[in-house]
Amino acid sequence: MNTTKFFALFALIAIFAVLAACAPAPTPAPTAAPPTAAPKPTDAPKPTAVPPTAAPKPTDAPKAGGTVTVYASPQEEWVKAAMAQFTKDTGIKVDYVAIGSGEAYTRIAAEKAAPKADVWWGGTVDPHIQAKLAGLTEKYCSPNAKDIPAQYKDPECFWTGMYVGFIGFTINPNLLKQKNLPTPKVWADLIKPEYKGLIAMSDPAQSGTAYVIMATLVQKMGEDAAFKYLAALHKNITQYTKSGPGPITLVGQGEALIGINFAHDTIMFMKQGQPINYVIPEDFDGYEIGGVSLLKGGPNPAAGKALIDWTLTAKAMELAATANSFQVPTNPNAAVPKESVKVSDVKAIDYKLDWAAENRRRLVTRWTNEVGNLPK
Ligand code: F6P
Repeated sequence: MNTTKFFALFALIAIFAVLAACAPAPTPAPTAAPPTAAPKPTDAPKPTAVPPTAAPKPTDAPKAGGTVTVYASPQEEWVKAAMAQFTKDTGIKVDYVAIGSGEAYTRIAAEKAAPKADVWWGGTVDPHIQAKLAGLTEKYCSPNAKDIPAQYKDPECFWTGMYVGFIGFTINPNLLKQKNLPTPKVWADLIKPEYKGLIAMSDPAQSGTAYVIMATLVQKMGEDAAFKYLAALHKNITQYTKSGPGPITLVGQGEALIGINFAHDTIMFMKQGQPINYVIPEDFDGYEIGGVSLLKGGPNPAAGKALIDWTLTAKAMELAATANSFQVPTNPNAAVPKESVKVSDVKAIDYKLDWAAENRRRLVTRWTNEVGNLPK
């Protein structure tokens, strides 16, 4: 082949090659039918593994799980509902013991060397403060405590208020009428001889409620005058019950005509159909803050903290009313039940919590020696 022919052939091949590269790709034949089955996950292309550029974040707190052990002092109906909901919300199981405030304190103190529970849930706060002073509880500043007003929590985070409740007189109106007895209106009425053997209250050594009653009287009247009053009241007492709400059952059954206890507990029993009512003392009144504390050295502190966080939410506090518990929630974002006695309904004394806690042991001993052991 001469040189001219060779170059003409080479140019022709080059033109064909360029045209072939520019031609559109052939359209694939349409699929006969759309696939009915979703593609298998294994068919998906594998993501290319990219080496992590940053080190994984350390977990801030140990993840809460397992079981939390709780000593619970409110009415069991509420405790049961709250603990079930907590488990539902967090997956953490709850092992609870229903136990009054005074008894709970005694048990926690007895277990100091080998604590069995993580959280003391509810109950009058005076013994919670006593527990703080005795080194039985642990400081825990729950992030949710920011919503709780300062007057309802420990500035050092050893306890946080869950609810507030006010003292009232439970009455059985029909039986008072039958016996031609007036409805008591002020504290002084309760020591009138006409009520001899007709009044019930709880035992200050075992019940947080009774201690709030006693500490209120001492703070209002002065200590000696209050003990004189308590000795006079003793003559009218038919029974000292172990638990704070105990007198209400006696009034409902007619074994007593008057009970001294928290008004929210009377409302609970009224809702359950007891033939009772309540009176808020017209002269002055005492009140409780119901507290929650993390116990020192408990078996599962992470779960204990999770329970405290949950307890302080408005949603958890609103659960109380669905379980017939009508204390006033301390979280201002929680609805106050319409049945609740409000702070504006009572003449509350300026209850000194720290004083009440510091003097609890001494006042209870004095009451046992000078009042509880007196003949009636
Ligand atoms: O739940 C009822 C209740 O009155 C609480 O409000 C209170 O904290 C607790 O019981 C006190 O119970 P106790 O007097 O038996 O310690």
